[in-house]
Amino acid sequence: MALFIPENKILEIKNTADIVSIISETVLLKKAGANYVGLCPFHSEKTPSFTVSPDKQIFHCFGCGAGGNIFSFLMKQNAISFAEAAGMLAKRYGIEIPHQGMSPGRKRRISERENLFDINQKALAFFQHVLVEDLRGKKALEYLTKRGIVNETIQRFNIGYAPEGWGNLKNYFQKKKVSLTLVEKSGLISPNKNQSGFYDRFRDRIIFPIIDVNMRVIGFGGRVMDNSQPKYLNSPETSIYNKSRSLYGLNLAKQTCRAHKSVYIVEGYFDLLALYQHGIQNVVATLGTALTSEHIHLLKGYADKMILVYDSDQAGIKAAQRCIDVFLKEHVNFKKEDVFKKENVDTRIMVLPAGHDPDSYIFEFGADVFISAAEKAPGIISFLMDTTIKKHGLSIEGKIHIIADMKEILASIDDSVARSLYIKELSERIQVDENVVLEKVREISVQGTGVTAKAKSLSFVSTKDLKNVNNLKIPREEDLQDRGSKLERQIIAMMLQFPEILFEISIRRVLNHFEDNLLKSIGKIILEYKEGLSEQSRAAISKSQLDDYVCGIINSIDDNEKRCIVTALAIKENPWDRSGCLKLIAQFEGGRNRLKDDLLNKIRAAEEDNDHELLIKLLQEKQKLAVLNEKQKPAQKERINF
Ligand code: UTP
Ligand code: MN
Repeated sequence: MALFIPENKILEIKNTADIVSIISETVLLKKAGANYVGLCPFHSEKTPSFTVSPDKQIFHCFGCGAGGNIFSFLMKQNAISFAEAAGMLAKRYGIEIPHQGMSPGRKRRISERENLFDINQKALAFFQHVLVEDLRGKKALEYLTKRGIVNETIQRFNIGYAPEGWGNLKNYFQKKKVSLTLVEKSGLISPNKNQSGFYDRFRDRIIFPIIDVNMRVIGFGGRVMDNSQPKYLNSPETSIYNKSRSLYGLNLAKQTCRAHKSVYIVEGYFDLLALYQHGIQNVVATLGTALTSEHIHLLKGYADKMILVYDSDQAGIKAAQRCIDVFLKEHVNFKKEDVFKKENVDTRIMVLPAGHDPDSYIFEFGADVFISAAEKAPGIISFLMDTTIKKHGLSIEGKIHIIADMKEILASIDDSVARSLYIKELSERIQVDENVVLEKVREISVQGTGVTAKAKSLSFVSTKDLKNVNNLKIPREEDLQDRGSKLERQIIAMMLQFPEILFEISIRRVLNHFEDNLLKSIGKIILEYKEGLSEQSRAAISKSQLDDYVCGIINSIDDNEKRCIVTALAIKENPWDRSGCLKLIAQFEGGRNRLKDDLLNKIRAAEEDNDHELLIKLLQEKQKLAVLNEKQKPAQKERINF
């Protein structure tokens, strides 16, 4: 795929793509005035501060400060380059990117990532061909049929077969003249011990391609058809495949997850296929790893109810405990079902009867039984309560153990209503006075950081501790508020939202008097951006084409911090008009004059006090101010290009 995207194509992509619909694919957005808001996909939060402006086609998170346009969003979300983001959008909207213009040098520079996607796509075609159209695939097809997988499922999931032998795929790539050192990077082949060549990773295995939400093949899983080990072999992690961030089947499940607002999470490939084939299509599978916070993060964009399906109590308990940790980090509250709120994730643990996994269960009992069992699945806390009670029993000793096991879990519940409801439920179930349980839970909460080491070893983190961590890491809106004076911020906002005023800003040298250097340089970037435009584009920057203007400015900024400040200041709706803007500038200039008067008074006082040290400092300041004022006078000879 071409990585070089000409300027006119960028414009075409920009004009076709809509930031709200692209972001909506991964974030649940709600309309709020002129903008949309949702939970930020780039940091953990439980109240939405992630804002998307359809008018300006930009996003900004007032929680973590991330911001940009449609390209920056995709770049940040997928950790990809500008060209990749543009290419992705072009593909999505059917915008053709010419290949001819690519020089050999440019071809050579095509990134490794693009190559890996390409290699995986080719391998998928090979495996698929062997399964469906090659005699060698016969026994694999038979195996799939035996396991109840129908042709339609095979097609939809692009299932394939890697034939027996050490060099089938290698030869295929060799014939296609693809560099084997490149193929090696995908993990599909490995070098021989004596470094004399390569051999295929997947041999005599059913192949499950792992495809991301952008429909790119990122890796493969392969299952043997007998009892040999390992049962499943997976692609190694590469620059395009990260197990803790990838979920099998999400590419096909995402729409249904959105529609149902819920997702089933299973552990195996066949579990997923079985559910899908029985009409339960909002299902994803973790890929030989436990559920991670990244998985939850990813899924939060599609569903607010997650049903984790496990084949044993033990697996369920492990997962539930991990979840508490993960969800706490995600700042998602556990809510009792009846106090469940939209922005929180409702997480259920579904444990199947002994001897069953989702695959065998649904084939035996059908989708209706599966769904009604899922509806009865308890939330994480209730589930842990159930299993703890089952484990210890209701003897006196048992009750003591139950409270000991549960107190940390209960203390970790952020929401006070939910916490007190669960405390009540536990005390009723084990017939212990509610206040006694409450006291034990309080002990944990009060201990705060003291409990952390222990809590961490149990994979629980106290809420209090977590908040401190977050305060350190996440820049708040106030951080931005500290930047420069309010007037300086307003002037930049005005420049972004009312470009007509740029002439005034330039001629009155307003930026020269900015105290905050970052805001000053942003102001300069805006002026330079307008300078660089053609007459025609300049004329076109009226209010109606503000999105082109802001998008252009954002594209011209490489620095992340600057870009985020721009989006923060651009996204707020201020009704600017010319006279309001002029007043603001006058106010800013007036403030500076007051500064001068103030300085003169101080100098007089220092002279009277004979404070030489202070006097020198003040005189230096006065000199600086004078230089600035000199600069501020409109330069008459200089041509100003507006
Ligand atoms: P299971 O061992 O539970 O197998 O592994 P399964 O999914 O039920 O598979 P079938 O029904 O026997 O075919 C669950 C998941 O763990 C990963 C795979 O993703 C598998 O689907 N796994 C398992 C591996 O990655 N490697 C292994 O050797 C085994
Ligand atoms: Mn199974």
